[in-house]
Amino acid sequence: MSSVSEPQRPTITTYRDGPLLVRGPFELLDQDGTVIDTARRTVALCRCGKSRTRPLCDGTHRLVHFRAPGTLESGPEDDGAGTGPSAQGAAPGLPGAQ
Ligand code: FES
Repeated sequence: MSSVSEPQRPTITTYRDGPLLVRGPFELLDQDGTVIDTARRTVALCRCGKSRTRPLCDGTHRLVHFRAPGTLESGPEDDGAGTGPSAQGAAPGLPGAQ
């Protein structure tokens, strides 16, 4: 019996200087809607941009000394990492992107 309960809904957790961890029931899709088979109920999504297996994290963030908070950034004064369009709530090319 496992002591860790799995969420009933998908959760995404930001990790300081690391990936986004997705737990629970989810589907990972590419931009065309094709399912990316992860064969797991928990995956780490790369947010440093340097993984060789994007969108999945392969641990390269440690080698490149990726820095990001594990919480919501408050603005441009946060190490300059909060100034891009994706940091403002929308990925480039999606509604709401600038
Ligand atoms: S966040 Fe881990 S390789 Fe990018």
